[in-house]
Amino acid sequence: MKFSELTLPTLPRPVKALFIGYLLAVGLGLCVAGMQIMLTHGMADGKSGLSLDDIVYSYYGHRDGSTIESKLNGSMKEMAEPEVRLDIIKWARNGAPESEWEPHFKGVFGQYCVMCHSTMPGIPDFSKYEEVKKLAEVDTGASVPSLTRVSHIHLFGISFIFFFMGLIFCFAVGVPEWLKVLAISTPFVFLIVDVLSWWLTKWSPGFAWLTIIGGVGYSLASTFMWVVSMYQMVIMPCRARESGAQ
Ligand code: HEC
Repeated sequence: MKFSELTLPTLPRPVKALFIGYLLAVGLGLCVAGMQIMLTHGMADGKSGLSLDDIVYSYYGHRDGSTIESKLNGSMKEMAEPEVRLDIIKWARNGAPESEWEPHFKGVFGQYCVMCHSTMPGIPDFSKYEEVKKLAEVDTGASVPSLTRVSHIHLFGISFIFFFMGLIFCFAVGVPEWLKVLAISTPFVFLIVDVLSWWLTKWSPGFAWLTIIGGVGYSLASTFMWVVSMYQMVIMPCRARESGAQ
C-alpha cells in the first residue's frame, strides 16, 4: 500500500481505533481546558466570563494600587477616619516597610481593624505583619518564574496534541493540499503567539488582545481538524457501506 492510498475512511481498524480514541480523549481535554480558563482567568476581574480585563489582571496585575489601598477607598472606607486611611495608604505605597510596623502601624491596625481582622474567619488577620504586607503589595500580575513554568509546559504539551492531530489529519481525503498545510501549521503559529502574548501583556496591558487571538486561532484550527478527521473515520465508512449495500 502506498502512502497516498492511506486515507482516514479506509484505514485499518486497529489504526482507526487508536486515532479515534486519541481524538476523543484530546477533544474532552480541550473542553475541560476551556472550562478551566473560564474558571481561573475568567473571574480575575470579579465578573464571570473571559474579558480583556481578566487577561490584563492575570498577567499585568493591578498596578494602580495595592489591595489595602483599593479596599480603604472601597468597602473598608467606613472603618477609619480619612487621616488614618491616608496614613496607611502612604505606608503601603512605600512598600509597607517593617521598620514602621512595631512602632506605629501595629497600633493603628490594632485600633481600627483587628477587632474584625483576627476574629472573623475567612478574612486576613491584621495582627500579623506578614498578612498586612501581602495585601499592601502592588499586584504585578504573573511572576516571571510562574510564566516560565506555564510557558514551557504549554509549548511542549500542546505541541504534542497538535502534532498528533495534524498527523491524523494528513490522511484526510478531499481536502485540498493548501488547506491541509494551513490547518496543520496554524495551531503551532497561534500557540507561539499565545505564549508570547502572556509575556508581552505582563510588559504592557495593550497586548492582552493577542492572547485572545492566539487562543481563538488554535481552538478554531484544531476544532476543524478534529471534526473532519472524526467524520471521515466514523461517518464516511458507514455511509459508504450503506450506499454499497443498496
Ligand atoms: C467591622 C469589621 C471590619 C473592620 C473594622 C475592618 N474590616 Fe476589613 N474586612 C471586613 C470584612 C467582613 C471583609 C471581607 C469583605 C470585603 O472584602 O469587603 C474585609 C476585607 C478587607 C480587605 C480585603 C481582604 C482580601 O483578602 O481581599 C482588606 C484589605 C481590609 N478588609 C482592610 C481593612 C483595614 C485596613 C481595616 C482597618 C482600617 C479594616 N479592614 C477594618 C471587616 C472589617
